[in-house]
Amino acid sequence: MHSLKEIKKPVEQELKAFQKLFKSTVKSKVPLLDIIMRYILKSKGKQMRPLFVIYSAGLFNNINHSTYIAATLIELMHTATLVHDDVVDDSFQRRGRFSINYLWKNKIAVLAGDFLLSRGMLLALENKKYDLLEIVSAAVKDMSEGELLQLEKARKLDISEDIYYKIIRKKTASLLASCFAAGAASANDDSEAIEKMRLIGEYAGMAFQIRDDLFDLQVDNKSGKPTGIDIKEKKMTLPLIYLLSQSSSSEKRKIINTIKRDKDDSAKVNWLIEQINLSGGVEYAREKMLEYKNKSLELLRSFPENQSREALVNLIEYTIDRKK
Ligand code: IPE
Ligand code: IPE
Ligand code: MG
Ligand code: MG
Repeated sequence: MHSLKEIKKPVEQELKAFQKLFKSTVKSKVPLLDIIMRYILKSKGKQMRPLFVIYSAGLFNNINHSTYIAATLIELMHTATLVHDDVVDDSFQRRGRFSINYLWKNKIAVLAGDFLLSRGMLLALENKKYDLLEIVSAAVKDMSEGELLQLEKARKLDISEDIYYKIIRKKTASLLASCFAAGAASANDDSEAIEKMRLIGEYAGMAFQIRDDLFDLQVDNKSGKPTGIDIKEKKMTLPLIYLLSQSSSSEKRKIINTIKRDKDDSAKVNWLIEQINLSGGVEYAREKMLEYKNKSLELLRSFPENQSREALVNLIEYTIDRKK
């Protein structure tokens, strides 16, 4: 496997151009926002989405200023939704630091997220990149629907495997899909190729979220995010859905009761995590993750080979092998 650093190397200059644009876009004269934006700029995250955008344009041998606008737009939307997501999930940690809602409380975190969203939209509009704005706005709409569907299901605890895929397709894969589509659209206007790219990104995004859900079950994970938040928030992920599908009705009741009543009791949550592991739920999720990854790679290989295609392959491999 290639490290993220290695994958970034060939486009170091392009990433710098993106970072410069990102930084100048989030500037604000309102002191509190300025402080929060500086805090956000200090903990960058992996920046996988900008990389996907840049290499998707590179696949068509045309990385240009529109590509940087697309990368910035998407990273702004991504950052905004993370700020909001930590409010929704009541999570205290992000990127190895305290979350915005933990430090400044929910009211301010919601508004800071709104600021990032609107800066992204304005950036696209100021540059008249209506096609990019359309691609990305559709993804942001999907993300809100996915997060809401997940909340609805967390209340009722009645989620099937199909609904799980629907949730992760909307909340995560849609934005990954937009990276591929917007990157490709910044480089050429072959609508068939753009749609194919979108689908490659969607498959990769499904694998990406399954990987993320596995972090939550992994004690001492290095993701910079807490473990066990999903169960605490009654979020049903694939390994847990698998455990339920393998359980008798009395076992099911015990599991559901643990999630409903004892989610703050760490001994009981640990018992549940152990059950998930014993059921083979983690392996099952891994298999599904690999299936999505392979579908993504297969479609990607239908494009002519170049350095960017190789980098995209490595980045998709990294999506599932990553340790954070
Ligand atoms: C986190 O995405 C949100 C999910 C879709 C699981 P990343 O893991 O790409 O977050 P950062 O930007 O690197 O922090
Ligand atoms: C990630 O949802 C997708 C978003 C819409 C941000 P999660 O709640 O699963 O992501 P993390 O684990 O907090 O990053
Ligand atoms: Mg969430
Ligand atoms: Mg979350």
